[in-house]
Amino acid sequence: MKTPIIAPSILASDFANLQKEIEMLNRSEADWIHVDVMDGVFVPNISFGLPVTEAVKRYAEKPLDVHLMIVQPERYLEAFRDAGAATITVHYEACTHLHRTVQHIRALGCKAGVALNPHTPVTLLEDILEDLDLVLLMSVNPGFGGQKFIERTYEKINRLADMRYTLNNKLLIEIDGGVNAANAGKLVEHGADALVAGNFVFSAPSPEEVIASLKHLPIR
Ligand code: DX5
Ligand code: ZN
Repeated sequence: MKTPIIAPSILASDFANLQKEIEMLNRSEADWIHVDVMDGVFVPNISFGLPVTEAVKRYAEKPLDVHLMIVQPERYLEAFRDAGAATITVHYEACTHLHRTVQHIRALGCKAGVALNPHTPVTLLEDILEDLDLVLLMSVNPGFGGQKFIERTYEKINRLADMRYTLNNKLLIEIDGGVNAANAGKLVEHGADALVAGNFVFSAPSPEEVIASLKHLPIR
């Protein structure tokens, strides 16, 4: 089985000790640091925004994978690039002119991702897939960490993997929400390249060990 990219979500970290949490991620086998930005409008929760992203960047030795759960994300692309984002992922459901937004992200020198809510079919990305670096499939409804994984996600990965075979074989598939030891292997088998994990990592006594266990999944 291929080795997945592991992207721990700092949404589940101890914000009062953010520097320590980032230093732990630097030491760990995490590949990216997943940054969940929520505006209280697109999703029913507010997390943090630009100043916290900048603070994370000050200590992070790994690329910031910024997931914008905000309306009109096109207004903030340059600001998140300046705050240190390596990848910027916007929601399909939040973009009226998705093609323009994706071009803008790339013109800023970032990798461009599009996220889909659980109800949004992957086929809607057919005419933009070739312009993307990454598709993030939400495997919970966005807004909160610690929710139950939606089983339907496997089927969506299958279909997206078929689409990328013909349309963009460099596309990365990232899964976000409810990822844990019980589903990680199956997600990778279905075609996931990157796994986001929040609570599963940060609620463990040894987050570093949990990250290593996701990175080196047992061969099935
Ligand atoms: C949910 C966020 C996720 C979340 C994942 O809206 O996009 O990144 O933090 O957390 P867990 O792994 O706890 O579901
Ligand atoms: Zn996320």
